[in-house]
Amino acid sequence: MRLERIRYENFRNHRFASFEPSEGINLIYGRNGSGKTSILEGIHYCALTRGFVSGSDSECLLFSTDYFLLESSFQAESGRDLSVKITYTKEREKLLTVNNSDIKPFSGHIGRIPCITFSPNEMIIVNGAPAERRRFIDSAISQTDRRYLDDLIAYRRVLQQRNALLVQIAEKKSHQNGMLALWTENLSTLAASIVYTRVRFLNQFFSRFRELFSQLSLNEEPSILYRSSLGTLSGDLSVEELFLGFMKKFQDSEAFESMRAQTMSGPHRDDLLFYINGREIKKYASQGQLRTFLIALKLAQHHYFHETTGEKPLSLFDDIFSELDELRIADIFTILEKCGQSIITVTENIEKNNVTAFPLESLKCKKEH
Ligand SMILES: Nc1ncnc2c1ncn2[C@@H]1O[C@H](COP(=O)(O)OP(=O)(O)OP(=O)(O)O)[C@@H](O)[C@H]1O
Ligand SMILES: [Mg+2]
Repeated sequence: MRLERIRYENFRNHRFASFEPSEGINLIYGRNGSGKTSILEGIHYCALTRGFVSGSDSECLLFSTDYFLLESSFQAESGRDLSVKITYTKEREKLLTVNNSDIKPFSGHIGRIPCITFSPNEMIIVNGAPAERRRFIDSAISQTDRRYLDDLIAYRRVLQQRNALLVQIAEKKSHQNGMLALWTENLSTLAASIVYTRVRFLNQFFSRFRELFSQLSLNEEPSILYRSSLGTLSGDLSVEELFLGFMKKFQDSEAFESMRAQTMSGPHRDDLLFYINGREIKKYASQGQLRTFLIALKLAQHHYFHETTGEKPLSLFDDIFSELDELRIADIFTILEKCGQSIITVTENIEKNNVTAFPLESLKCKKEH
């Protein structure tokens, strides 16, 4: 997937700006606060209908203005062109137009322009709570497996219903153990399918990850474990075995769950454990090692997506090189040379072959054109 051009109007600190990146590696450099992240944010909006930094659309509106507009064109590897336009006004909701047709709901657009991101905020994937790692694996799988996303949505719904029933049982408002058994069975079916898919994904993903990680850090051996309520899982359990495992787990903990009024096990409580040389990185790794681990996760996600779909996602990397030494930076450039189009922000220009550099100031326009 390639971004050909994008035009900004009243988007964050850009009154008017436009950007025409080249095919391979692109650098946008400029001072702190000059608007580099905002440029990536606009591209992310066009690809996924929302930002990856700002929480809401209204935060992206240039102060004291009443609309923002993003107009972009992309080209898929198949040669297909996509022109994407997003307009937002305070009064009316956000509008998305793709090749001149209005798109509603926005979920219809997700997946057309695959992209991967790196943002310093995402360091919580490697050093934050389990929910962040679940979000990472769920989004990596969902982008190539629609059924998995459907399972996740169904699981959340059944979990809510089961929890609501457990609350009623805890408050002694219901003795519907028959209903509980039904929700437990439904939940176990979905839990088995989700955990099976996650573990199978990790097995395939890990070989790519390990290769990329070792290109970035010599003599460091990474590992990733999937920790579920049924213990640490590798790839050898079938969906049926997982289903029976969950059924037993729920039956064993029914009294406890009825007392706590919530479902205490299942994929919504699982975690990925990341290690370097046998030590959990959350506890022991340096800032540079954590960052390298996250970068390798993202690059592996890129490779996985490309191999499963045939399309290279667009890479948007915000401030990816901070805290990294020159050797690691050079190694990342080498990997990126084969990753299609990437757009990277930096504060100082890095002069390199095969890299097109844009001073941020060159993207700003005096007026509309
Ligand atoms: N809605 C908005 N309207 C106007 N300015 C905004 C808006 N939102 C953010 N800004 C400002 O835009 C400027 C550019 O922000 P941005 O995060 O893009 O900078 P940056 O070049 O990435 O900086 P850094 O190198 O520090 O990461 C900041 O000064 C920020 O406060
Ligand atoms: Mg920034």
